[in-house]
Amino acid sequence: MALRNLIFTAAAALFAAKAGAVDNGLAITPQMGWDNWNALGCDVSEDLLLQTAELIVDYGLKDLGYHYVVLDDCWSKGRNASNNNSLIADSSKFPNGMAAVADRLHELGLGFGMYSDAGKYTCGGYAGSLGYETVDANTFASWGVDYLKYDNCYNMGQAGNQQISEARYAKMANALNATGRPILYSLCNWGEDYPWNWGSTIANSWRISGDVYDNWDTYDSRCPCTGADAWNCGLPGFHCSILNIANKASFIVSKAQPGAWNDLDMLEVGNGAMTDAEYVAHFSLWAAVKSPLIMGNDIRTIAPADLSILSNAAVIAVNQDPSGSSAGRRWLYGINGSDPFVGPSIQLWSGSLKSTTGGTYSDMVVLLINGADETDPKAQRKQVKMSWEVRDLWANRMSTDEAAAIIAASTATGNVTTGYNATEVGTGRYNVTATSYAAGLAANDTLLLGNVTTTVQPSGTVTATVDPHGAAMFRLRAVPTAAVKKRDEL
Ligand SMILES: *[C@@H]1O[C@H](CO)[C@@H](O)[C@H](O)[C@H]1NC(C)=O
Ligand SMILES: *[C@@H]1O[C@H](CO)[C@@H](O)[C@H](O)[C@H]1NC(C)=O
Ligand SMILES: *[C@@H]1O[C@H](CO)[C@@H](O)[C@H](O)[C@H]1NC(C)=O
Ligand SMILES: *[C@@H]1O[C@H](CO)[C@@H](O)[C@H](O)[C@H]1NC(C)=O
Ligand SMILES: *[C@@H]1O[C@H](CO)[C@@H](O)[C@H](O)[C@H]1NC(C)=O
Ligand SMILES: *[C@@H]1O[C@H](CO)[C@@H](O)[C@H](O)[C@H]1NC(C)=O
Ligand SMILES: *[C@@H]1O[C@H](CO)[C@@H](O)[C@H](O)[C@H]1NC(C)=O
Ligand SMILES: *[C@@H]1O[C@H](CO)[C@@H](O)[C@H](O)[C@H]1NC(C)=O
Ligand SMILES: *[C@@H]1O[C@H](CO)[C@@H](O)[C@H](O)[C@H]1NC(C)=O
Repeated sequence: MALRNLIFTAAAALFAAKAGAVDNGLAITPQMGWDNWNALGCDVSEDLLLQTAELIVDYGLKDLGYHYVVLDDCWSKGRNASNNNSLIADSSKFPNGMAAVADRLHELGLGFGMYSDAGKYTCGGYAGSLGYETVDANTFASWGVDYLKYDNCYNMGQAGNQQISEARYAKMANALNATGRPILYSLCNWGEDYPWNWGSTIANSWRISGDVYDNWDTYDSRCPCTGADAWNCGLPGFHCSILNIANKASFIVSKAQPGAWNDLDMLEVGNGAMTDAEYVAHFSLWAAVKSPLIMGNDIRTIAPADLSILSNAAVIAVNQDPSGSSAGRRWLYGINGSDPFVGPSIQLWSGSLKSTTGGTYSDMVVLLINGADETDPKAQRKQVKMSWEVRDLWANRMSTDEAAAIIAASTATGNVTTGYNATEVGTGRYNVTATSYAAGLAANDTLLLGNVTTTVQPSGTVTATVDPHGAAMFRLRAVPTAAVKKRDEL
């Protein structure tokens, strides 16, 4: 009896340790929000955050799940020796202090994201948290912070293998946990020392590469590891293109799990240097591999076409799927015999989603990416073994006119009182504040399921014509066939 209890307890402890991961209850689906860095760099202020927050509400983005407003680098002004060396917010940028920012964001129903660095200095040269983990975590918690993006500059050589990096990042994990406040912990160590192997035990997400830039596929020597060496990139670099990061992600998709995600870096949608098709492909891929969806554009000047990409609930529903399993790359071909890692390529990603048919079979997401400079429909296909209903997840993309109306309905400076009136514009949009993605999927909401384009039979193929540098994204739902039914009855 005693022995059996002991064995049972040990098994339970093992299970808890495995299932627990970071165990702060956060990011059960990938986190969503906005961060100023990609568009605005160090140009941060209270006004920027609060104006952006009001627009996130006005434009219906909050009601699509974009929750965290994340302040990036360059907000502080040293440490306060008379107050346990705690960080001081720059009062010229944040005249009312950080707690006031947090309070206002919370009033709007949003979360407040903070930035620091597991080094002596931040990347912008401000005070870093290395050696100050406890006091900084306490400061963040006292301000009402809900999220920490934790960078890797000036790490004083405390890197080079998994154990050293893990130990450095675990200090902040423990300090955050000790505050008692649930704070989403987002590692930003650029994929150095394989954070996908150890990040899930201490954090909610980990960056897998050097910084993204607003570029589809240009090779840039500052971001090495373009080919099959991508899984083992000693030098993460920066200026990484969308397809470069996609390639790095392809090797480690299995590491994503509820509460712990591969972070492909913040979105570039709306920053101006890619085409609409490229932004569609970028957003689709980030969604399918369960990357956090953190908008990286200036919301104050968002163009209608970009708002409509970021507002595609059918694509977001793939990202927020309750099963929390990442799509993987099934194939990658070079066009006309080129090296697929370097030359133009086409690639197919797919993965399973929670069933919306109540049947034995999961739904599937299928994503075709055409990296070539011309349309090539013939090669863009996936063979199937049974019947599937094929639903196009971009069919119901909000029109540019509707997006423009939503933007116009809000005041230029952002005013929740006079802004976006959902009754007048934007009707028929999905609203996750009212109905979770899981519930909407379970109810077969077509805003999430997409429109049926065709049904493919066993041994048929899914074929799509994909724009150059674009993507087609489908949800496949199993259609019971006679054979399947017979098997089900056995
Ligand atoms: C701290 O960690 C423990 C053990 O993993 C967990 O149960 C608890 O929820 C965590 N608390 C916070 C605030 O993250
Ligand atoms: C430093 O801390 C002291 C003691 O809490 C406080 O009076 C002072 O205002 C702080 N200075 C700054 C610049 O925040
Ligand atoms: C003050 O700083 C020390 C050293 O970082 C830390 O151990 C302690 O918990 C801090 N106290 C508070 C109230 O943050
Ligand atoms: C492949 O090569 C053929 C023959 O040179 C050319 O006509 C075609 O445009 C190329 N296709 C792509 C996608 O580059
Ligand atoms: C959703 O659609 C599937 C397939 O048509 C059907 O089996 C299921 O009953 C529907 N669920 C609801 C809640 O309508
Ligand atoms: C998709 O289906 C909805 C509802 O049936 C319909 O209103 C809409 O026009 C369809 N969209 C396209 C692009 O066919
Ligand atoms: C928003 O508009 C309302 C009504 O015009 C006004 O009373 C309020 O002061 C405005 N709020 C801001 C923050 O400008
Ligand atoms: C929104 O617009 C509708 C239709 O014009 C109007 O009846 C309603 O009062 C408006 N709501 C707000 C909060 O302004
Ligand atoms: C979304 O739903 C929430 C909760 O029902 C509601 O307060 C909010 O106004 C809705 N948003 C829009 C844009 O309709």
